[in-house]
Amino acid sequence: MIILSIETSCDETAVSIVEATGEFPNAHYTVLGDALFSQIDIHREYGGVFPALAKREHIVTILPMLQKALAQANLTHPTSTALPSQKKEELQTLLLREPGLADSLISFFDTYGIPPIDVIAVTEGPGLEPALWVGINFAKALGSLWEIPVIGINHMEGHIFSSIFDGTKIEPIAFPAMALLISGGHTELVLMKNWSSYELVGKTRDDAVGEAFDKVARMLKLPYPGGPEISRRAELHRAKENGKIIPLPRPMIDTNDCDFSFSGLKTAVLYYLKNTVGEGEITEEIREEVSCAFEDAATEVLLKKSLRAVDLHGAQSLILGGGVSANKHIRTVFKNTIETDRTDVTLYLPDPKLTTDNSVMIALAAYAKYKPGETLEKKEIVAQGNLSVSAGARA
Ligand code: KG4
Ligand code: ZN
Repeated sequence: MIILSIETSCDETAVSIVEATGEFPNAHYTVLGDALFSQIDIHREYGGVFPALAKREHIVTILPMLQKALAQANLTHPTSTALPSQKKEELQTLLLREPGLADSLISFFDTYGIPPIDVIAVTEGPGLEPALWVGINFAKALGSLWEIPVIGINHMEGHIFSSIFDGTKIEPIAFPAMALLISGGHTELVLMKNWSSYELVGKTRDDAVGEAFDKVARMLKLPYPGGPEISRRAELHRAKENGKIIPLPRPMIDTNDCDFSFSGLKTAVLYYLKNTVGEGEITEEIREEVSCAFEDAATEVLLKKSLRAVDLHGAQSLILGGGVSANKHIRTVFKNTIETDRTDVTLYLPDPKLTTDNSVMIALAAYAKYKPGETLEKKEIVAQGNLSVSAGARA
């Protein structure tokens, strides 16, 4: 089965074509095409992702990404069949809120025709709703053009699949499994009792950990996204022989639950800078010291709470996913701890290329749900900014 997957939940416009053979979870996957455009450079000057701008960029980039993915997959099928005017009208209606996109899609049809794709999978949430709608409306229009089904996929479920994908197959994880999903919008612990059960057992009560990385970076006058900037400086500081240690709090580390809080940690950095630097210059040395102290504190809390959740639910696998799981220190600390102290647990870390938002993960999550030939429950796909991962569970 060939899946076309679309991801536009935040600031990445991504389209992939993935061929899956065999039955999930023992399927074999071939990524035939994978095109991704990151809008980071466009949002950087605003210090974060600006939803209206993200939407506009998705509108202009999504069709070029589809063309690129189809070309990589060698799936261009020029056609001499003219599109009936009724179909053209249908596309215009489906893409009413994406100016110009229906016209481009109509001309695209002449060159690309109907490629042998079986199903379209699109992120329906969580994420920025204006951005999600572009992907959803485009997926619906393509579904209508090619007369194939469209299914909505949970972005967080996608991140879980990213972390257990080795490039051709899904790792045979042992259940129960615990997933720590850490990104710019989420910090969640998700219990998986089997492939179709997701239960949220812990989450942040305020900022997501990625958001805290980004906000601390801004305090240090570093560009967006802050995670990689902080990580690089923290590594430099850690390598120093007698580097200064700034004491920062570990919020909620000992509380009797699996929840997190990062806003107190962020505020502690703010006060530290106020008291020590004031209106003075933030030197590169201060940046390195603060980055290291912040990263250490955040990592310690993430690790302790994850192990707590693992113990509480008897998890045999621990899966890390989301943009922040690219963080080198977090990866090393989790890896070393599991290898030395917790040999009863298997740790799964995503390939660094798949830590950020991508569309391959949406295809992987889709194949776990969609069986060829099976009639899907007809469900209108709607952008859901706050869609919970537990909504991906099936009875
Ligand atoms: O999953 P993602 O690409 O998008 C969301 O769904 O939010 O995650 C983006 C977040 C940003 O907050 C970014 O600063 C953070 O991931 N991030 C990192 C690193 N790389 C990206 N945080 C810490 N260390 C990194 N190396
Ligand atoms: Zn994400």
